[in-house]
Amino acid sequence: MYEKSRALHFANRRFIPGGVVSVNRAVEPQIAFVKGLGSRIWDVDGNEYIDYHAAFAPHLLGHNDPDVTRAVQQALSEGLSLFGSGTTRWEGELAELFAEHVPGVEQVQFTTSGSEATYHAIRLARAYTGRDGIIVMQGGYNGWHNDVATNLMTPLDVLGPRVSPGEYPKIPISAGIPARVLEDVHVVNFNDLDSVRYVLENHSIAAVLLEPILQNIGVVKPRPGYLEGLRHLCDEFGAVLIFDEVKTGFRYALGGYQSICNVIPDLCTFGKAMANGYPIAAIGGKAHLMVYFVHPDPQKRVLIAGTYNAHPIPTVAAVATIRKLRDRREEIYGKLERLGALMEEGLADITRRLGITATVARQGSAFCLYFMDHPPRDWHDLAAHHDFDFDLAYRSRLIANGIYHFPQATKQGSISFAHSEADVEQTLAVTEKVLQELVQQDGMVTAR
Ligand SMILES: Cc1ncc(COP(=O)(O)O)c(C=O)c1O
Repeated sequence: MYEKSRALHFANRRFIPGGVVSVNRAVEPQIAFVKGLGSRIWDVDGNEYIDYHAAFAPHLLGHNDPDVTRAVQQALSEGLSLFGSGTTRWEGELAELFAEHVPGVEQVQFTTSGSEATYHAIRLARAYTGRDGIIVMQGGYNGWHNDVATNLMTPLDVLGPRVSPGEYPKIPISAGIPARVLEDVHVVNFNDLDSVRYVLENHSIAAVLLEPILQNIGVVKPRPGYLEGLRHLCDEFGAVLIFDEVKTGFRYALGGYQSICNVIPDLCTFGKAMANGYPIAAIGGKAHLMVYFVHPDPQKRVLIAGTYNAHPIPTVAAVATIRKLRDRREEIYGKLERLGALMEEGLADITRRLGITATVARQGSAFCLYFMDHPPRDWHDLAAHHDFDFDLAYRSRLIANGIYHFPQATKQGSISFAHSEADVEQTLAVTEKVLQELVQQDGMVTAR
């Protein structure tokens, strides 16, 4: 089934360490994909899949959305290139779309990746406050750079018990991070205001940085009042509140999750869905902060630079994506919600009928089937109760049956505008078969 995929991986290992260019892509089965169109992807062996991975979530409109592709093809045919000097009308248009629709964005800058965006947001917060400390969430992911590459899916025997109020030991997810960098990083529970207050009282904190929904461990939602509480704490202690909307941005609303929860951060970062799969990201916020990128005092000015910042082709893709989301707003977000609800109800029904302990957590078109009896409230809750082995076996079986959910436990499923009700129904039929096989043939039971 995967002969050509395996051969390609084997060959690529010769010159690429590990054979993949992002450690997150090193999963089993090793599949080399060649084509994506709408809700479907195909691999080099000719296998077809309904895709819910969406390349870690950018493909909100579906693979190769015709309107985005047309805009890119037209720009290329007209000779649009990277100029690296001055400005372009496309970045101006993109900035205006952000300012018009995202409540917390008065001004915006563009980078190539979400990691660069969170990097700049932290640096800006430090310049503005004159402090170095940052607070991040256990189980959250904000990119690969030194400040944030800690404490993602830390095993509980390494991390220790839940701490509240207080902070966790810092567990870097990469070698090569200087210990002195980690001194300024403070990791707390998600959904735990007491711990944030504790760190704010005991350290000099520039920023609280978080995904407003923890989506790198599925869909872990903020409890009522949590984001409002963070807003108040940041105001009380003069810290900058940064929402990392790289994953939540545009997926649920044109204005980001901030427009749904009505909590307005000082700074926010975007990426992924903003260009439906093209590499561009954004850092936006209030003008009195963003002005630090051009501060008249060179001692206070924050460097923003990058050969590929707002590369015109991804910029055109982003403008086309956001315009489409704006022009067909109700139709697109309405459909995404409908399909999300259909998926949620179907999964809940199947697991209930099969007697499998499970909970579907969902926000709009993002969902995660947890094999535990309640939606997780933080990493400890998830790590202690979710059946990771069953989850992985379930995902592997789905892939073998033409449904591509990323084969790593707790990874979010993403529905796109290109998915149809028939896609969801086919997915549910395969899911039922797969879960039945796991329970009956393999005798797997959810452990908790
Ligand atoms: C919430 C969040 N922030 C930041 C990033 C980093 O973005 P990138 O991979 O584009 O550097 C990611 C990537 O998964 C993310 O999910």
